[in-house]
Amino acid sequence: MKILFAASEAHPLIKTGGLADVSGSLPSAYAKFKHHTKLVLPAYGDVWEKVTDVKELTDFMVGGCNRDVHVRVFKAKAEGLDTPVWLVDVPDLFNRPGNPYLSPEGDDWWDNGERFAVFSKAVVEIAMDRVGLNWKPDLVHSNDWQTGLVPALLSIEEERPQTLFTIHNMAYAGLFPKSLFESLSLPWHWWTLEGIEFYNNMSMLKAGILFADWVNTVSPTYAREICFPEYAYGLEGVLQKRQDEERLVGILNGIDTEIWNPKKDTYIKRHYDLEKGRVAAKKENKKDLLRFWDLPDEVIESPAPVVGFVGRLVPQKGIDLVLEVIHEVIEQTDARFVFVGSGDSTYEYLLSELAHQYPSRVMVYIGYSEALAHKVEAGSDLFLMPSRFEPCGLNQMYSLVYGTLPIVHHTGGLADTVVNATEENIKEETATGFVFYDPSYHALKSTLLHALYLYTKTRTWQKIQRAAMSVDFGWEKSAKQYLSLFKATGKKK
Ligand code: ADP
Ligand code: GLC
Repeated sequence: MKILFAASEAHPLIKTGGLADVSGSLPSAYAKFKHHTKLVLPAYGDVWEKVTDVKELTDFMVGGCNRDVHVRVFKAKAEGLDTPVWLVDVPDLFNRPGNPYLSPEGDDWWDNGERFAVFSKAVVEIAMDRVGLNWKPDLVHSNDWQTGLVPALLSIEEERPQTLFTIHNMAYAGLFPKSLFESLSLPWHWWTLEGIEFYNNMSMLKAGILFADWVNTVSPTYAREICFPEYAYGLEGVLQKRQDEERLVGILNGIDTEIWNPKKDTYIKRHYDLEKGRVAAKKENKKDLLRFWDLPDEVIESPAPVVGFVGRLVPQKGIDLVLEVIHEVIEQTDARFVFVGSGDSTYEYLLSELAHQYPSRVMVYIGYSEALAHKVEAGSDLFLMPSRFEPCGLNQMYSLVYGTLPIVHHTGGLADTVVNATEENIKEETATGFVFYDPSYHALKSTLLHALYLYTKTRTWQKIQRAAMSVDFGWEKSAKQYLSLFKATGKKK
């Protein structure tokens, strides 16, 4: 099968979150199963520095906002990506440094609607083999609102490839005013509630959900959750419809075990695995993590537990709950906390304040650091992920693989990947972490205190660690589930 995988970010070229991890590894997993796969991305400014063997393949025009836009497509290679990368180059739309969606001031780029509509239209031209590349995919796999117009525009083509649309997060709907819809010359009959209109805006996310042959999200639990208003932000109707048609499924993400692997992680001080050197390496990696901050030796050498957090500082991640409970936990235990993240300025400020208040107990890095993210996984004892909702979540899986027991709220992919350390589960050696069932101050606090108590019970702790590190989260299983879906895909329209 020939597969075109379209996304707005992919590790190691450009990353803001887990979508990049998935786009950087799932296409390679398809390729391992001998499918001819191409990854297509916008050619953002920073991407050019990270690719090699760049070659122009073709150029053509697509319709932008009341104008024709000149698109060039380059082929390139990138370290760690087993598939060729096709870069869609429109300098005035994409050749900007930094975050792919936000300006340096932290606001959405004013022209995000045109940027991702043009990207999607370019993907459609490539997918229909109309631009002289002599390659027509059997399947186009697109991801999140930025590529939501791809299945929609392909649905009106004859002899088209099949389409799969993956929802990584319902919280980002890609909403734009009617004027954008008009200026992009999209089919008029789409402007209805049954089409892609959403409360007098157009929703690029809705376009993907409505028109794709298959829709999936990134865990079985989130696939069920998003059929309810609490998780669907007004799109529950269209999701229920796709579910009734048996076209909505949940497939758990995998992880890239070349990059996230304590046996060979290039960022960590000492390698380890389930069988060898786990306890000693964790101690060494903990010191190495803490050395990032300018701390006195007795703090670095202390055996007290370290609780890590890495993530976007947004309400989704439950960081507000953490800020509520942390004072009491600091007072009642000897735990230290390490935070690596960036996002809403309020959370950034509150965390920095906390670090000032407890200089030897709370370590904070505001910003994005790949190296620190790996060091936190290897050097912490516990990993905090109290997300209010979590489509899949990758960090809890990285934590499990690194023997860093996750503390999670029972939602989405967190519910599908972490087995709670109840007495029974510990006895049966299935427990892998700590789960709480309602996102409240009390639930998080008591779970955190329970986890810190169990940390002092070395034998039990190691039993849980061993179970956590034994779980296989590699892509093979998930990629097979995607591929069997495609085999089942009959033409819908
Ligand atoms: P989401 O996609 O919602 O942000 P995931 O858990 O799926 O959540 O993936 C987040 C990814 O982004 C992980 O690879 C995580 O390590 C990484 N990440 C998030 N924030 C940072 C940061 N500040 N520095 C380094 N990596 C980060
Ligand atoms: C989203 C979700 C996260 C998921 C990631 C990759 O950003 O918030 O839960 O793991 O996409 O699918």
